Amino acid sequence: MTQADMTQDQLKAMVGQAALDYVVAGEIVGVGTGSTVNKFIDELGLIKDRIAGAVSSSVASTQRLQALGIPVFDCNDVGELAVYIDGADEIDHRGHMVKGGGAALTREKIVAAQARRFVCIADESKLVERLGRFPLPVEVIPMAAQRIARQFAAMQGQATLRLKDGAPLVTDNGQHILDVRGLLIADPLAFESEVNQWPGVVTVGVFAHQRAQVCLLGTPAGVRTLKFD
Ligand code: 5RP
Repeated sequence: MTQADMTQDQLKAMVGQAALDYVVAGEIVGVGTGSTVNKFIDELGLIKDRIAGAVSSSVASTQRLQALGIPVFDCNDVGELAVYIDGADEIDHRGHMVKGGGAALTREKIVAAQARRFVCIADESKLVERLGRFPLPVEVIPMAAQRIARQFAAMQGQATLRLKDGAPLVTDNGQHILDVRGLLIADPLAFESEVNQWPGVVTVGVFAHQRAQVCLLGTPAGVRTLKFD
């Protein structure tokens, strides 16, 4: 197989394995959600005797961790985490991200806020000059969804309710997701601060306040490490 033949799945596996270098022995590791993180969880299973356990950002990741025999702790029962490892839908050259393609953005932001360091793992397709190409996920309280959609329309964003099996998708927190297309996010910090204070918004999927300090980017030539601090 030539380097050019590497699939996205193989690139994800590569960074999932590389992320083990950032896991601190004897500590509890923060674990994100998604197909890239699933590769990391599988690797974590191989070294589970060297860690104290994990804090998880979703029911799906919790189930995968527990199936491998890795103890999962509640955020409230642990202190600051050395590291949080998670994927992204987009990441820019300053470590700002769009997340929530897997609908786990709120818990992801909570666990990220509890960690000293955010290590993002992604294939190279996720690196962008400016956030906004990927439809922006926003977790909302259902009764506020249409008003929030109108607020996005006023800034040229087209919001649609995310569906699953023909019905509104319900998150691990019992809420809904709006996916917003057409936004240009020039100032991620200001954008996140503004949208997060709209009534009914649980979490906006821009991660600027909880940006990554490191990104391990899977490329056909190997893992490229981007450092943002
Ligand atoms: C889940 C997320 C994921 O990190 C993001 O969607 C990337 O997923 P994948 O690794 O499957 O591409 O934010 O809410």
